[in-house]
Amino acid sequence: MKKLVMVALVSLLVLVTAACSGGSGGQKTVSESDPIVIKFSHVTSIDSVKGKAANRFAELVAEKTGGKAKVEVYPSSQLYGDNDELDALVSGNVHMIAPSVTKMVKLDPRWQYVDMPFLFNDQEHTRKFFESDIAKTLLNSDKLSSNDIMGLAFWENGFKHFTNNKHPLKKPEDFAGLKFRAQAGKVLEAQFKALGAGSATIAFGETYAALQQGTVDGQENTYNNIDTQKYQEVQKYMTLSEHGRLDYAVFVNKSFWEKMPDDIRAQVEEALKEATELEWKLAAEENAASLENIKNSGKVEVLSLTDEERAALEEALQPVYDEFSEVITSELIDGIRNLK
Ligand code: LMR
Repeated sequence: MKKLVMVALVSLLVLVTAACSGGSGGQKTVSESDPIVIKFSHVTSIDSVKGKAANRFAELVAEKTGGKAKVEVYPSSQLYGDNDELDALVSGNVHMIAPSVTKMVKLDPRWQYVDMPFLFNDQEHTRKFFESDIAKTLLNSDKLSSNDIMGLAFWENGFKHFTNNKHPLKKPEDFAGLKFRAQAGKVLEAQFKALGAGSATIAFGETYAALQQGTVDGQENTYNNIDTQKYQEVQKYMTLSEHGRLDYAVFVNKSFWEKMPDDIRAQVEEALKEATELEWKLAAEENAASLENIKNSGKVEVLSLTDEERAALEEALQPVYDEFSEVITSELIDGIRNLK
């Protein structure tokens, strides 16, 4: 009799546990009062392209899931900066990040495709890449999944431009002896070296201070990052060089993502699709507005390049291809070129 009661109790316990966990695949039952919290960490300000898109994504998730999922956005390296946001994603301390893809070099050097000088023609070319099969192979690579992360979407920022506070930069020789802040990776280091300059990897959140204190003389970034970080306050010259890209991808912790109830995950995916469309639109608009802001600040001399000056810069940066084509792979480099 005692045995029978024990068996009945254990069966009841199993049933209750299954009901509480949603019954299938260990998925959690969620409600508005106990939502799934998606922590989304990023390093730019709330008024940057990425900051605006992340906040809109949070609103869309709340709308589409009826409050059953909640995105908590942590901007401006508030929670994690460049040095630890990827580790935090891998360990599941945050669930989503949208880093500049070059920062993924820690896991897969091919992400430095984005730094290859003058690889992309224009915004249309970049978008064709985002929608291409080669881009999908990067998002779904084994190198990411073996670290328990996966890529969900590409987000755009724009072309990078050089700024510095020493003198106008127009010719390759002008870069000699200057020191620049770089985001990450050997490709950017090689880029500056090819121009006779030095570089230091400095976290985004520390770059303003490094420019202000003269730890470095210059940096390269998009109009929107320059403007929303107020680099115009601490830089005297900006060269409209468009020599490389700065774009993002949205990554999620894979275990977290797969544990989400299927219906909620589908709604979050739908929210991300809409936020991505908005992000692409914002990238163009906000970068154009930021260029105007920088010009209107009156603090920076804005320098355009002639076709010849651009060509000279491109030629000077050719050694980067000689050194890194194999690492980035011809599949990616030629694949991107062929999309033009
Ligand atoms: C940078 O470090 O300059 C950028 O990656 C920052 C960003 O996320 O746009």
